Amino acid sequence: MSQQVTFHDHKPKESNLYSAILYGFSQSAKTIPPKFFYNERGSRLFDEICDQPEYYLPDAEKTVLNRCVNEIAEITGENRVIFEPGAGNLSKIRLLLDVLKPIAYVPMDISSDFLKSAAAGLAGDYPWLPIHAACVDFTHSLPLPEAVPDKPRLAFFPGSSLGNFHRAEAKEFLLMIRQALGREGMLLIGVDTKKSVSVLNAAYNDAAGITAKFNLNLLWRIRHELQAECEPDNFDHHAFYNRDEGRIEMHLVSQREQAVRINGHRFSFDPGETVQTECSYKYAPEEFLALATDAGLQPIKHWLAKDELFAVYLLGVSAWEV
Ligand SMILES: C[S@@+](CC[C@H](N)C(=O)[O-])C[C@H]1O[C@@H](n2cnc3c(N)ncnc32)[C@H](O)[C@@H]1O
Repeated sequence: MSQQVTFHDHKPKESNLYSAILYGFSQSAKTIPPKFFYNERGSRLFDEICDQPEYYLPDAEKTVLNRCVNEIAEITGENRVIFEPGAGNLSKIRLLLDVLKPIAYVPMDISSDFLKSAAAGLAGDYPWLPIHAACVDFTHSLPLPEAVPDKPRLAFFPGSSLGNFHRAEAKEFLLMIRQALGREGMLLIGVDTKKSVSVLNAAYNDAAGITAKFNLNLLWRIRHELQAECEPDNFDHHAFYNRDEGRIEMHLVSQREQAVRINGHRFSFDPGETVQTECSYKYAPEEFLALATDAGLQPIKHWLAKDELFAVYLLGVSAWEV
């Protein structure tokens, strides 16, 4: 890695697949937290999902960012420290860098090797940009490396990743962002909107079956990394919009009666029993703005994609906070 990029490992020990699975498979309604989708293979599969025609989110968000980046820069100014939790392949920050001209960029992700190679690729294309790549679990904390300059901050949180938190957790996460922003901080966040159920259901059930592979990758991780007796082929991907909760739910459904064995522990599955692997909450703009305000963030401006397919919001730390 070039000197332009520094790498910081802040991933807590508790972010551990084994303990999460023992806990999640012991519940009456089994769950696996979505952060475990993202090993190297999971991150690559997510990139493939973004190329599927049904998955409208990335194109809609990128179109808004391209359209509004100059307006965003007029409000934020230049020379901020930009940090991006769950930065993934770093494709969206590329739409902002030449206009926002940050003094430093801090991509943060749980998928460590994927983050390192994405940061190296970005450094090659933006040789003027100091990059402090940090492996973090943002459900625990958002530690910014000490070497980051003491300048006003901008948090960038695209991809509607906020939707992966349940509502109360989403508020906690926004409070954590506000804390990390400090005085004069701003948040630029992309959040998916409510829309027709058929569009939503298609987005999480692409015809090429990539989202299914991404979901089943969790079971392959359990099999390989925990040396578990687990047959991923005996489970199906199931994703649907739950209108009452305003969220997509993603599950793995057991095709038959079976057991998964991990290090002496046995977890039985009935036919049709599911493991919930992800929620993706959708927010009408007024719902999101109420949540953000509740977390002490002041709405500055927001922009909607065509047909209100997606929304990008710019918020500031509330006056009462500073
Ligand atoms: C839905 S993808 C979005 C990627 C990118 N922000 C985008 O908009 O295309 C979620 C990203 O967050 C990362 N991630 C998921 N859970 C995380 C966690 N608990 N801590 C840090 N990163 C996490 C994943 O590795 C992945 O890169």
